Amino acid sequence: MNILVTGSRGQLGSELRELSGRIDGHRFFFCDLPDLDITSPDHVASFCHDHGIEVIINCAAYTAVDKAETDVDAAFRVNRDGAAVLAACARERNALLVHISTDYVFDGRSSTPYHETDRATPLGVYGVSKWEGEEQIRRIAPSYLIVRTSWLYSIYGANFVKTMLRLGAERSQLNVVADQIGTPTWAADLAKAIVLMVERYEKGSLSSATLHYSNEGVCSWYDFAEAVMEMAELPCKVVAVESSQYPQIAPRPQYSVLSKSAIKQEWGLEIPHWRVSLAAMLEKLQQDAKG
Ligand SMILES: NC(=O)c1ccc[n+]([C@@H]2O[C@H](COP(=O)([O-])OP(=O)(O)OC[C@H]3O[C@@H](n4cnc5c(N)ncnc54)[C@H](OP(=O)(O)O)[C@@H]3O)[C@@H](O)[C@H]2O)c1
Repeated sequence: MNILVTGSRGQLGSELRELSGRIDGHRFFFCDLPDLDITSPDHVASFCHDHGIEVIINCAAYTAVDKAETDVDAAFRVNRDGAAVLAACARERNALLVHISTDYVFDGRSSTPYHETDRATPLGVYGVSKWEGEEQIRRIAPSYLIVRTSWLYSIYGANFVKTMLRLGAERSQLNVVADQIGTPTWAADLAKAIVLMVERYEKGSLSSATLHYSNEGVCSWYDFAEAVMEMAELPCKVVAVESSQYPQIAPRPQYSVLSKSAIKQEWGLEIPHWRVSLAAMLEKLQQDAKG
């Protein structure tokens, strides 16, 4: 298959690029700004035509959650309108569109894991723009997989784990919020899951769907930070604080654990626990540092 990966320099796109080197049988095309802007319909259409694209994996997004509160037009342009552009291109070519969405489509008032069918009531601009992007795809694309994920991290790009490693090496003590609950997701696991899903979808027995994927388990940002310090053997003490002591510009869901029962049962995916994946990511970072 000829597979286009948009937003390919981001965390997930970079993991897909790395994974593609270990996979036979597909031809991957990795694109990001400024070479391929997903908000440009002509450019997207001509690229897909010229390269015979059969599957589009959209990793491009406006992901600056706090900045989105004031940069509203830009967030909607990429997350809603860009998704619509890719959906229209997928329809034109009868291609499969895989699109990544977020736990931020939920308001976090639940106390049990969110199912795909639960009502989306996003709290901030980023969440609304991602939700509207999903809606565009369900409306326009004939073949799609929308995969909602949460708390993504990778050896690539900037993320919570890398921030904790940096601060943990600089400071003796760190305050981290303990009343926001969710599940981390190693982007390398998500990349593998996406490729498996594309292969299973193309075999023909499964249909378009909105699905949840994160690692297994549940934790707070405080638990996550503590695990990073412990596994990386950093002597930094992590102190649990409430969100009210750590004000952020955009509202965040208090609880955003995603139920993965559909993806496990219907798609047969096995999902590692977040602690296992965190250990694997830290190991990989260490190996990379050694060269
Ligand atoms: N990060 C998380 O914690 C998290 C959690 C849940 C869901 N998600 C979702 O998971 C997906 C992947 O996230 P990620 O963390 O890998 O994102 P990321 O690291 O921010 O990467 C996104 C990439 O898209 C590029 N991009 C932005 N606008 C574009 C456009 N108009 N055309 C083409 N490319 C464009 C960005 O380029 P620039 O850097 O130059 O802007 C960047 O390289 C996103 O859909 C995100 O919403 C992320």
